[in-house]
Amino acid sequence: MKAVINLKNVTCSFGSKQVLSGISLEIRHKEIFGMLGPSGAGKTTLINILTGQLPYGGEARIFDTECARIGHDVYRDIGAVLDKCGLYERLSCMDNMLLFARIHNVPRIAISDVINKVGLKGSERIKVGKFSKGMKQRLQLACAVLHKPKLLFLDEPTSGLDPSTAAEIHSLMRELRENGTTIFLTTHNMDEAYRMCDRVALLNEGIIAECGSPYEICRKYCTQSEFIIVTSDNEKISLPNSPESAGKAAELILGGKIRTIHSAEPDLGTVFLKLTGRKLTK
Ligand SMILES: Nc1ncnc2c1ncn2[C@@H]1O[C@H](COP(=O)(O)OP(=O)(O)OP(=O)(O)O)[C@@H](O)[C@H]1O
Ligand SMILES: [Mg+2]
Repeated sequence: MKAVINLKNVTCSFGSKQVLSGISLEIRHKEIFGMLGPSGAGKTTLINILTGQLPYGGEARIFDTECARIGHDVYRDIGAVLDKCGLYERLSCMDNMLLFARIHNVPRIAISDVINKVGLKGSERIKVGKFSKGMKQRLQLACAVLHKPKLLFLDEPTSGLDPSTAAEIHSLMRELRENGTTIFLTTHNMDEAYRMCDRVALLNEGIIAECGSPYEICRKYCTQSEFIIVTSDNEKISLPNSPESAGKAAELILGGKIRTIHSAEPDLGTVFLKLTGRKLTK
């Protein structure tokens, strides 16, 4: 099957400032793909290009249509939750949904199912201006998936949300993927990326520093894993995972001195720091 998103040497500049330099990527059907990078890396810029909102250099295609030329036939298959809120604050939750339903030609009857799924049942008549951040985020997601898009863009979908709202959004993402939606998400949250994404790209200053499955990326850079031991005296000891550690580990085990022991492999944040010298989060 052809890639849903295909980028070849994509570049983008604002004036003399080059924001994206030579991005090449293929994103497959039913993938959850994460674009990870610190603030200013170019994540939102890439989504804006992919959704036909920004000019660019190189080739960028979604569903085999050049992004600069996508029209209504392609927009019908796309949903997006962008960092700027696309909701009407003076309208109620239901009226916002009705507006999106009309734009996408979706029957009114489909709305209650989506409202239930994002956990907004009972809040239909409340004006969106009175919604909390998490409720707005869930309503944005509801509006974005109402027409069952084949490709969904999520720009930091859980940023600033409490863990249980974030978990609801994650479970909806998994359900969408099961039903055939490809998801492109951006995040600073390496834990979210590790758990949710089939593949991630690590974006730094407009360049992809690494791309692959989170597990494989972490393994690739895991040159030396460690064991972290907490002793019965609450002392924390790190031992390299190598034969030289066997004597010390055996001594602690035989002496009944171990309270906890676990292995520590680098996470995506550590890999990012190693590759770029920069932290993913502030
Ligand atoms: N319309 C614009 N005009 C000029 N510069 C812009 C514009 N949009 C983005 N930029 C610049 O492009 C760079 C990348 O911005 P972008 O919003 O893509 O970053 P990001 O990775 O999404 O960051 P964040 O995690 O903070 O959302 C930044 O330096 C930003 O200042
Ligand atoms: Mg952004």
